[in-house]
Amino acid sequence: MLTPTDTPIAQEDHVAPSTPTIPGQAALDWSNLGFAYRPTRGIVRYTWKKGHWDQGVWQTDPTLQLHLGATALHYGQSCFEGLKAFAGADNQVRIFRPRCNAQRLAQSAERLCMPVVPESMFLEACAWAVRENLAFVPPYGSGASFYLRPLLIGSGATIGVAPSDEYTFVVLGIPVGDYYQGGLRPVTAVVTEHYDRAAPRGTGAIKTGANYAADLKPHTESLAQGYPINLYLDANQQGLIEEFGTSNFIALQGNTYLTPASPSILPSITNASLQTLAAHAGYTIRQRPLRIDEVATFDEVAACGTAVIITPVTRIVYKGETICIGPHPDQVPPQMQSLYQQLRHIQFRELPDSHQWMFAV
Ligand code: PLP
Ligand code: COI
Repeated sequence: MLTPTDTPIAQEDHVAPSTPTIPGQAALDWSNLGFAYRPTRGIVRYTWKKGHWDQGVWQTDPTLQLHLGATALHYGQSCFEGLKAFAGADNQVRIFRPRCNAQRLAQSAERLCMPVVPESMFLEACAWAVRENLAFVPPYGSGASFYLRPLLIGSGATIGVAPSDEYTFVVLGIPVGDYYQGGLRPVTAVVTEHYDRAAPRGTGAIKTGANYAADLKPHTESLAQGYPINLYLDANQQGLIEEFGTSNFIALQGNTYLTPASPSILPSITNASLQTLAAHAGYTIRQRPLRIDEVATFDEVAACGTAVIITPVTRIVYKGETICIGPHPDQVPPQMQSLYQQLRHIQFRELPDSHQWMFAV
């Protein structure tokens, strides 16, 4: 299980910006970005062959030429990360906890028999993608951020079921706003009752594309029923809370911060960060199996993750019944709001970065 750690970063580690300019010069409507692909200046790409990664290249073309026998296409030998860069109040651009994402990508790669992307290469690639796209990094004050998508795929032609002999690592970046329209606003979740997300000894704890392919149908069905977010239960007995399709489950009950313990959920870096903030605020942190029939006893519930940040969940639909969480399900739960604000203030450099989470590019 990944335990995020970030070692303070020596500034000498960083290459000086190649395109010194200020963020947010592109002509975009920064306050209405949503969460969608849009073109930027380009991407960073590295290739692994014969046991070694190359030096990487910058390319303005956002497409790849891929052999039709690539293991990523046939056997899903593919994993990715999601992390964000922020233009701070001091106009400096920083990435939130990229070392944690490097560690998690290494765990995904190991599980999928892929070569590990060394941490230094991961950090360099992310910083490179941000620097070259500085014009697309949303300006301070817009509330938006620059979302980085490092992607590692088996790109060599291997038709028998076996690991590839060639790998491609790319970092794509796009400016993003809210994942769910309306910013910090409560949503209603629906429990996915007819599908499992991941098996106890499967790939649920790594960030492989296959987990998201498995979620497409349940998620589409939830959306069609009017629910923007779906919650998975454990595959074994369907009684324990796992996580949402795109984010972890967190709850507050009195003075306790609760989050499920399970071998098949993704160890969220946002969740780990919120645990640190909650512990500093005096909460007891408990990671334990959480039963779905306990949710009515929670004071506040939220989905957390890089894309969704903290999205309050004030109603959960389970077996046709709506369970309300907290006394005011139409309002933003106050403690989740406070955690949200603390996290955002750190990311935008409005509070001191006392945990050394921000990585200067
Ligand atoms: N769980 C799933 C399934 C996710 O896709 C994500 C997003 O990355 C998370 C949890 C949250 O992880 P993190 O906070 O590291 O973004
Ligand atoms: C993220 O939060 O970074 C994710 O990867 C979740 C989702 C958009 C797939």
